Amino acid sequence: MPEIWIDESCIQAGSGDNLLDTLLAAGHRVPWSCRSGHCQTCLVQALDGQVPEQATAGLAAEQRQSGWLLACQCAVAGDLRIKLHDPARDGLGARITEMQFAGDDVLLLRLRPDRPVRFQPGQHAVIWLDSELGRPYSIASQAGDSHLSFHIRLHPGGAFSTRIQTLQPGDTLYLGAPGGHFHYDPDWQDKPLLLLAAGTGLAPLQAIARHALAGGHQAPIDLYHWDGEHGCYLKPALEELANAHPELRLHLRARTELAADLTQLKLASRATLALVCGPPAFVEQLRRPLFMAGLPGRQILDEAFLSRQA
Ligand SMILES: Cc1cc2nc3c(=O)[nH]c(=O)nc-3n(C[C@H](O)[C@H](O)[C@H](O)COP(=O)(O)OP(=O)(O)OC[C@H]3O[C@@H](n4cnc5c(N)ncnc54)[C@H](O)[C@@H]3O)c2cc1C
Ligand code: FES
Repeated sequence: MPEIWIDESCIQAGSGDNLLDTLLAAGHRVPWSCRSGHCQTCLVQALDGQVPEQATAGLAAEQRQSGWLLACQCAVAGDLRIKLHDPARDGLGARITEMQFAGDDVLLLRLRPDRPVRFQPGQHAVIWLDSELGRPYSIASQAGDSHLSFHIRLHPGGAFSTRIQTLQPGDTLYLGAPGGHFHYDPDWQDKPLLLLAAGTGLAPLQAIARHALAGGHQAPIDLYHWDGEHGCYLKPALEELANAHPELRLHLRARTELAADLTQLKLASRATLALVCGPPAFVEQLRRPLFMAGLPGRQILDEAFLSRQA
């Protein structure tokens, strides 16, 4: 029977057992959120033992070299000695500089990290409020900015949504390493982009649009945003951007118009790339209309905001 060692304590696990479930069942308070290998809230560090490849998929090379793995993706294959993740020790401190409410229930959060962070606009990072409460959020700002911005939809009763509202500028929190596949590729310069966002799915897509435009993207960019009854929470900033860049076409729509809009989706060309981001149900809802509009799966990139309960 494989043994999992944490400091001086040892847990017996069955071969093939899920590491996260094993740790939780033994009473270790390991954080988790998506359970699907996307969010990096369930990181643990292997000090010794065999780590299955799947448990490190999507982690940066430096994280893999340091032994980090995703407990939710780790089937125990043999004895392991691990260390639990501590955001205050293993993450990066960041000070809140601005908290502004926008639209129906969106918090625009601005942080100043203790040192510059390398990332691609559109990637995400875990924001830790303490050693157990962390959630992934897409980075809404541009690389090179001394601050990081996030657009956080406040869900009634949500653990992070509730706690973040008790904080104020000057307070410190911790950031995980940025990661994820959702970012602009310089090879896309001459391809029309169809950016499709619901709610705070706008955060990474507007960052990708800005990045593409700043890099001299040659083809049209159509940015669709479906939001609640108060409309797009970022309307003035997006309109300013579109005024400066005629190749950016904005389609700021009400959520009630989504189903009808999807029947009208048109591609600027067969080379169009679609990037889709928002709640899982929205991402799922767009698959068929994009297929019907003639877009093959390899030209669609999506990021679903999986939540803890989803
Ligand atoms: C890669 C990635 C990137 C993400 N980026 C962002 C982002 O940029 N902005 C953002 O706002 N969120 C983003 N999320 C979602 C975010 O991580 C949290 O899941 C979300 O903020 C809820 O956290 P919470 O602790 O407030 O709620 P939890 O305590 O985790 O959930 C409590 C309850 O809140 C409600 N709830 C939670 N999420 C949703 C949802 N999506 N739709 C409807 N109800 C919900 C449900 O009733 C749920 O039972 C992202 C998720 C992933 C995986
Ligand atoms: S990556 Fe493991 S819980 Fe999200």
